[in-house]
Amino acid sequence: MKLLEDRIKKEGTVLSDDVLKVDRFLNHQVDPQLMDAIGVEFARLFKDDHITRILTVESSGIAPAVFTGLHLNVPVVFARKHKSLTLNDNLYTADVYSYTKQVNNQISIDKRFINADDRVLIIDDFLANGQAASGLIDIVNAANAEVGGVGIVIEKSFQKGRRLITDQGIKVESLARVKSLANNQVTFEE
Ligand code: G4P
Ligand code: NA
Ligand code: NA
Repeated sequence: MKLLEDRIKKEGTVLSDDVLKVDRFLNHQVDPQLMDAIGVEFARLFKDDHITRILTVESSGIAPAVFTGLHLNVPVVFARKHKSLTLNDNLYTADVYSYTKQVNNQISIDKRFINADDRVLIIDDFLANGQAASGLIDIVNAANAEVGGVGIVIEKSFQKGRRLITDQGIKVESLARVKSLANNQVTFEE
């Protein structure tokens, strides 16, 4: 997606050989117009996949997921990383290990918000090692629902996340595929 790549070039900061900071439009400040364009693009890419629901994980997946739900006209559910005050035990949970932060997080979704007849589109802001997406896939499987695809705003294609998902026969669409962050330079896949 040209618009997104241009924005990453213009406003992204390379923090190291494997971390890209994009807090001016995605991870802290959010650009609604860009998110809307992202939603339109994901809706186009998944329009024939019979998606009935979108799943993401708080917090940075929510903005692109909501705009995608708007354009696919389906509800959006985000997994929580922290137990909510109105906690019940009617939850699907999955463990998500973060290599970046070296911590294990438990994510959870209320069972009322995913059904066995759902075809779920998983949306997230970044795809690195694929642990967040895998946790969401585990939850969809636990609900006996189907994964209709995975949509990623920024994929770091030099990390192993895509492979982990496509090996399960799941369609992955990334709007920007970063090939390298070496030498303080963002290089995209062709
Ligand atoms: P993985 O799920 O693909 O295995 O990724 P990993 O554990 O490495 O990522 C942990 C967190 O860091 C996730 O956000 C993920 O989106 C984010 N992340 C991974 N690589 C990058 C990067 O290059 N740049 C930025 N800005 N973020 C990255 P999170 O902890 O769930 O936070 P949030 O959703 O609340 O923002
Ligand atoms: Na995220
Ligand atoms: Na993030």
